[in-house]
Amino acid sequence: WNIITLDEVDSTNEYARRIAPTAPEGTVVVAKRQTAGRGRKGRRWASPEGGLWMTVILKPKSGPEHVTKLVFVGALAVLDTLHEYGIRGELKWPNDVLVDGKKIAGILSECRLNHFALLGIGLNVNNEIPDELRESAVSMKEVLGRAIDLEEVLNRVLRNLSRWYGLFRNGRHGEILKAVKGSSAVLGKRVRIIEDGEIIAEGIAVDIDNSGALILKGEENTVRVLYGDVSLRF
Ligand code: BTN
Repeated sequence: WNIITLDEVDSTNEYARRIAPTAPEGTVVVAKRQTAGRGRKGRRWASPEGGLWMTVILKPKSGPEHVTKLVFVGALAVLDTLHEYGIRGELKWPNDVLVDGKKIAGILSECRLNHFALLGIGLNVNNEIPDELRESAVSMKEVLGRAIDLEEVLNRVLRNLSRWYGLFRNGRHGEILKAVKGSSAVLGKRVRIIEDGEIIAEGIAVDIDNSGALILKGEENTVRVLYGDVSLRF
């Protein structure tokens, strides 16, 4: 890994996008704070000091049909890292990592076809969770009751990422999916898929297929969901 550390940046994903055309694979952009951290769907991502805000530049050779699964590679690296601290996390399809139902990390993967992929990881480590998010978000510090060495967390995430990305590069997608299913917070549960504030599907989440899509069994039919927000509480 070739690590670039910044004090402040708009968003590590944006910074990475700017340097990606010439940066080698494995370049990692880490910032102490982001002034315009982003989540999926253009949402804001609160990124004050104390959290791990990073983006990894990857240049996978596999076809675009696999790139959507890079988000799982990031999520699994975070789940393993949490586990090393004794924290049991779950993956809420497609890109949230939860602890006791609260979001501790989010993954934002973006790709420029045939050029590069950006794997953005936001992990709440020692950062304060804003009041309005206290119901739905949590940090490692809160879970463990003590502050944690941020650099150690970064090193652990990168070590775990090496392993999962290694499998990805070797085409071992089956092993990735197996781990994803094994840590899923949604499989076997009744869920709703929300898109632009509307319920677009509802049913029991029965599987995550080889393309990474969530399979829902509804009253009458089975649907394959490619994107959307999963609601577990309704
Ligand atoms: C989500 O849950 O919607 C994804 C959140 C991703 C946040 C990380 S923080 C580092 C990187 N830079 C960003 O602007 N976003 C990602």
